[in-house]
Amino acid sequence: MFDVVTDKTQDESRQGEAFAPFAQDPNTYKKRFYIESYGCQMNFADSEVVASILHGAGFGATRNLEEADLIFINTCSIREKAEQTVRKRLTEFRKLKMARKGTLVGVLGCMAERLKSKFLEEEKLVDIVVGPDAYRTLPGLVEEAEGGQKAVNVLLSREETYADIAPIRLESNGVNAFVSIMRGCNNMCSFCVVPFTRGRERSRDAESIINECRDLFERGFRDITLLGQNVDSYYYVADGNQVDHGAQVAVTFAELMERVASISPLLRVRFSTSHPKDITDDVLHVMARHENICKYIHLPLQSGSTRVLQLMNRTYTREWYKAKVDRIREIIPDCGISSDIIVGFCTETDEDHADTLDVMRYSGYDLSYMFIYSERPGTLAARRYKDDVPDDIKKKRLTEIVNLQNELSLLSNQKDLGKEFRVLIEGESKRSELDWMGRNSQNKVIVFPKEGVNAGPGEYVNVKVTECTKATLIGKVI
Ligand code: SAH
Ligand code: SF4
Ligand code: F3S
Repeated sequence: MFDVVTDKTQDESRQGEAFAPFAQDPNTYKKRFYIESYGCQMNFADSEVVASILHGAGFGATRNLEEADLIFINTCSIREKAEQTVRKRLTEFRKLKMARKGTLVGVLGCMAERLKSKFLEEEKLVDIVVGPDAYRTLPGLVEEAEGGQKAVNVLLSREETYADIAPIRLESNGVNAFVSIMRGCNNMCSFCVVPFTRGRERSRDAESIINECRDLFERGFRDITLLGQNVDSYYYVADGNQVDHGAQVAVTFAELMERVASISPLLRVRFSTSHPKDITDDVLHVMARHENICKYIHLPLQSGSTRVLQLMNRTYTREWYKAKVDRIREIIPDCGISSDIIVGFCTETDEDHADTLDVMRYSGYDLSYMFIYSERPGTLAARRYKDDVPDDIKKKRLTEIVNLQNELSLLSNQKDLGKEFRVLIEGESKRSELDWMGRNSQNKVIVFPKEGVNAGPGEYVNVKVTECTKATLIGKVI
């Protein structure tokens, strides 16, 4: 059965299609654009929408910075460091612009939205500034900039979801794909800049999501991640005219996921990110019911202290979070759980920090993304609270949680020794061309020898785990 849908010739011809915008003949397109992305997966997904819009307007894509007429950088504002990285990259673009007259530089994404036209004053080489909801106007803005004007559009929208735009998969392995299901965020976590850079939350038309996923599956993709800042609050009310004689039809996240999972049992479905306050039993039950909905939840904790959580405006307590973890383990016993954690938030004490370590241990995370608090201009926390935890204490606390997470990751992997997993092969191992690399349902990376394995990227194999490190499971196909 697997052989039929993973037919190699079909996959390869489809890939060719996906990469058409990179056509070799320089005369095929009026101009070439290069696009580099920073930040979260949503930003990477947006770059694929941008590529599609530009391609539709007659521009060709290039992976070679030197031959680009238009250089775009899709930016992130989440922490100060993220913005510094972008500014450094811009100074490198300046050199290219000097060397090639007529090259235009455009800033996209969250930093463009945060700084708006101030960007043009601060970074003289920038010609175009476009916020996340204004990408449809890019071709017009490029034209303006070609005429020698600086071009800016940072209008946020309450409706824009780019639902009708088929993203061009820019850096694809042909197996994994990300599909945006909503935009913006209505949560006001006090540390977070996203509500300001991405605007109000809105859900994308469910039909357009299903169609995009079905198309990806038919092109050979086997692992789809549904993306949103807060996927559990997905709620799309369709104008039911064609569906149900004018009645309105609402789709919840649980229903959406079920519909995507029903495309084929060979299609794996993942999602990111869940806010602990919003993930429902419905979602957990749907996950438990469908083998191909991956048993993995990214459930950002941020802090384990109820007092700090309150200042962060996360709307849950440490007990409530722990109960959520219990509930997940009850309904989906083999579920992988990961987290985001911030140390050194305003007023954080040693006791608060100890509370964070405690919830980490309780949850037994497989993986965590850990950050030092970085004050962001304009956020609630920046306006209300003092960033008063000294740098050396922030660093010390970060080291402590990183060390604990390393222990937890190793422990979690050791529990998998001797177990068998269904693994989707994603490609060659980075370490050795003799090994395949894939992931199990719980999102863990598994490496195993190619020898004797009659399968490749996009295909499933059963792997028994024989060894592990804190980051990787190592095994053999059985
Ligand atoms: N929407 C997602 C997270 C988006 S940002 C969610 O709610 O979980 C990804 C992570 O960056 C956050 O979970 C948080 O841990 C971290 N982060 C956000 N703002 C930050 C700040 N000002 N300083 C440090 N880390 C931050
Ligand atoms: Fe930021 Fe909170 Fe929204 Fe996540 S849920 S994007 S942390 S405001
Ligand atoms: Fe960064 Fe914007 Fe994503 S701030 S994390 S790119 S939503």
